[in-house]
Amino acid sequence: MPSTQFQVRYPDSPLGAEISGLDLSKDVDAATFREIEKVFHERSVIWFRDQKLTPEQHVKFSRHFGDVEVPTNRQYSLASCPEVYVVSNIVENGRNIGNADAGRVWHTDSSYMQVPSRGSLLYAIEVPQDDQGGPLGDTCFASMTAAYDDLPDDVKKRAEGLRGVHNYTQQYERRLAKIKAQGGVREELTTDLKAKVPDVVHPVIRTHPVTGRKCVYVSVSFVIKVLGIDEEEGLKLRDYLIEHSTQPRYVYRHQWRAGDLLMWDNCATQHLAINDYALPQRRLMYRTTVKGTAV
Ligand code: SIN
Repeated sequence: MPSTQFQVRYPDSPLGAEISGLDLSKDVDAATFREIEKVFHERSVIWFRDQKLTPEQHVKFSRHFGDVEVPTNRQYSLASCPEVYVVSNIVENGRNIGNADAGRVWHTDSSYMQVPSRGSLLYAIEVPQDDQGGPLGDTCFASMTAAYDDLPDDVKKRAEGLRGVHNYTQQYERRLAKIKAQGGVREELTTDLKAKVPDVVHPVIRTHPVTGRKCVYVSVSFVIKVLGIDEEEGLKLRDYLIEHSTQPRYVYRHQWRAGDLLMWDNCATQHLAINDYALPQRRLMYRTTVKGTAV
């Protein structure tokens, strides 16, 4: 593939870029990758339309960005390629073939890990459609850098230096209870698994490891406490930061097409999956998650 021959289109939003002219099933050379990475750091979310990728090709492209995580909870990993996590509402033999309710609240992937993820790559295989053939199941991405930049100075000062406690199990158990109440099936968290995800502490305002820009780094999904201030005050600050950061002016909403490979930055953005479809409207996505660096 010739180096750096691709085009970039920007949506009217503070983040996001569509890259065209590349076939990611083929090798991407180092010079082309550097250009892609540059756009990724500038725009935090990038996507490539019309790709035809096997799970192995998806993982191979993801590895350009770093080591690929094997999910903490492997119940929805592909057996043949455990780095690929299945997000889907499809039921086969009475069981969901993937996580059917991933990302239903604003969050950033793996923030509950000591070393959180750098980015995630979601590949659309089946996209649900409305009666007119329009796409459903969009994903929204909010820019945590643009949101930080606009924070009032007194809030910036208050949040700087504070640290949030990120917890995996509480949100999992909340979702499990909901699924069970609706008659669904999902694995319980084993003691072994719980031991793999102890609470971790990260700054409420995180500095991006590459761009050096400041990012709001709290989510409703995982942050259960803010250390260093009164507990109630801490939760109020968390909620304020999330409400501020997810206003429409910081958001790009992606309408999926089958064949899209989209990557987001897990430090500079949060995301939210829109739940506006139901079987027989099918949604099938494969996700890889790239390891980051210590915060
Ligand atoms: C996720 O939160 O990783 C899934 C997002 C989506 O399915 O749109």
